[in-house]
Amino acid sequence: MASSPTSQREAKVRPKPVAGFAHRHLLDLDVLSREDIERILHDAAGFKDVFTRTVKKLPTLRGKTVVNLFFENSTRTRTSFELAAKRLSADVLNFAVSTSSVAKGESLLDTVRTIRALGADVIVMRHGSAGTPHLLAERLPNLSIINAGDGCHAHPTQGLLDMFTILEKRERIEGLQVVILGDILHSRVARSNIWGLRTMGAKVRVVGPKTLIPRGIEAMGVEVCHDLREGLQDADVINILRIQRERMTQNFFPSIREYTLLYGLTEERLRQWAKPDALVMHPGPINRGIEIGQAVADGPQSTIEEQVTNGVAVRMAVLYLLCGGSE
Ligand code: CP
Repeated sequence: MASSPTSQREAKVRPKPVAGFAHRHLLDLDVLSREDIERILHDAAGFKDVFTRTVKKLPTLRGKTVVNLFFENSTRTRTSFELAAKRLSADVLNFAVSTSSVAKGESLLDTVRTIRALGADVIVMRHGSAGTPHLLAERLPNLSIINAGDGCHAHPTQGLLDMFTILEKRERIEGLQVVILGDILHSRVARSNIWGLRTMGAKVRVVGPKTLIPRGIEAMGVEVCHDLREGLQDADVINILRIQRERMTQNFFPSIREYTLLYGLTEERLRQWAKPDALVMHPGPINRGIEIGQAVADGPQSTIEEQVTNGVAVRMAVLYLLCGGSE
């Protein structure tokens, strides 16, 4: 498709991605090579070092504008992208969808074109419909689009920060047995984790009720197990997912109580059925007493709060690489 004179001019003045990271957008992890993922995790480690300094700010993205455009609720992702951009000295706009002209019927594309006209370089987008960030990347190629979660499809920066946390704790990802436990069917975190972990050489097993595991998921290179005790046996990492009731259009199990009885990770089950040093991860938000017991969430094996901290470093690395910060 021929590009317009405006987009040709914009393409010349906008920064190109840095050498060694040839991506303008981050839409999911399936398009990243192992070298790409290693580059992001390596740069994230460098940015994390900055957190211990008195002045936690770098001038790297001075003059760039990052816009957070969230059509779905978020605590961790939105705030950590804001913090990451601010720590790199970018200007940050948090677009409040509910009080914007979207409420008057303005389309998504017109909304984003308006934001682009204000001088945005990067749009961080969360949307309830799978594929929305991909549509924007296709239609507005001069912007960098970061997928901060699209429906049940993908959440690439969550996958990256989970891998960063594993690497920090275990010094490798290759060969580790990672268990993803819970509502795989509705989880964008599960899909991005599987793509990333498989690319990095981990073994992945999904554990949960038949109704919450997508048919044919074995094609992604994962093992499927429906029994919690069996599924936990040799796990180095247990990544627990929330039951996403807001995305369920039918009953996938008889009751929450029964789900917890069969698949809830209690302190006793963790002690009896898993390796003593297995990492317990959760992307949040957590439902204490449902998919994860109180003592497990707050216990010594839990990395839940470290994942949140690492999210800032990983998002700094992603913004830096997509904005061509090192040029
Ligand atoms: N893990 C995650 O995406 O959390 P938020 O929905 O709070 O951003």
